[in-house]
Amino acid sequence: MAYAAFRSIGAYVPQKILSNDDLSKMVDTTDEWITKRTGIKERHIADENETTSDLGMKAASLAIERSGIDASAIDMVVCATISPDYFCMPSTATIISKKLGLGPVTAFDISAACTGFVYILAIAKAFIESGMKKNVLIIGAEKLSAITDYTDRGTCILFGDGAGAAVISATEKKEEAIIDVHTGADGTYADLLMTPNGGTGSPHDALEGETGACFMQMKGNETFKVAVRTLTKDVKEILAANNLTGDDIKHFIPHQANYRIIKAVGDALKMREEQVVLTVAKYGNTSGASIPMAMNDVYEQGNLKKGALMLLDAFGGGLTWGSALVPFSPLK
Ligand code: ACO
Repeated sequence: MAYAAFRSIGAYVPQKILSNDDLSKMVDTTDEWITKRTGIKERHIADENETTSDLGMKAASLAIERSGIDASAIDMVVCATISPDYFCMPSTATIISKKLGLGPVTAFDISAACTGFVYILAIAKAFIESGMKKNVLIIGAEKLSAITDYTDRGTCILFGDGAGAAVISATEKKEEAIIDVHTGADGTYADLLMTPNGGTGSPHDALEGETGACFMQMKGNETFKVAVRTLTKDVKEILAANNLTGDDIKHFIPHQANYRIIKAVGDALKMREEQVVLTVAKYGNTSGASIPMAMNDVYEQGNLKKGALMLLDAFGGGLTWGSALVPFSPLK
């Protein structure tokens, strides 16, 4: 049986920075409020002409280069995004494949909001373990600024743009293998986070003229409470299912939504400070891109060593959630 190994990580962050002070000139808020309630200091914003696939392509290119696997050997591309280049079609994954000059690969997008990267990791693992694919490129890419309402202080302070990507490939060595990925969803909470317009759920005509219907809308406080509960439960379950404890984890890489959520979950799991990866202050919430962007920071700081066990944990619109136990297994 083939196992799936996590070979490489890459990310791309747009140049332009939107600080809390910038936002305080746009809506009724302050740097102090945003910092205290979220831990976010700034977020990066893509240029007007820069698309989600542009961000994803740059992250993916770096991940392929670092993997040591030739681009021609990539046989599947999966992109997690809630801000695709085009709603419906074509998928952002097919556009990225073309921009990278890949051959006729299998390519598709998935929608699981902030849990997207954990979902595409599960997909890559399943395709590789079944023997259907050998080298899968997974990308979390978001231009959330395009679907953010910059008149709504409850959401516009949270979100940023960016992309992260990884190459997952087949191995016969069990010690290199992704140990486990858990995914889940509960549509009961679908209305906590949504972009109401543009789909058959709320035909365009019905919402035409409604300000903000194309933008993300969130019941922040309720989302916060479900997030802490679900993230903690999910991690406890995946650790127990694999006979591991928090002490076995080198890097705990949670979705970067809010410092208070990460702190509450980290404390409940008794994670030590040095285990918890934090990038929310400089990138804000980049949804499906947040975990690979955070992982890339650890890599670029020289701290992601071969064999290091990572614990990923995410939560997002849907509601969706997921966690993963992933040893870093580079080829070079
Ligand atoms: N500046 C100043 N005041 C504000 C702001 C702001 N930017 N935003 C809200 N307020 C006010 C509210 O109006 C409210 O005022 P009131 O008491 O007079 O009514 C007060 O602050 C408290 O509002 P809450 O919404 O209760 O604030 P809370 O402490 O919950 O923080 C936040 C809001 C930061 C949004 C938090 O709820 C949160 O982080 N939620 C979770 C977000 C998340 O994890 N999302 C999931 C992933 S996203 C995805 O899937 C795409």
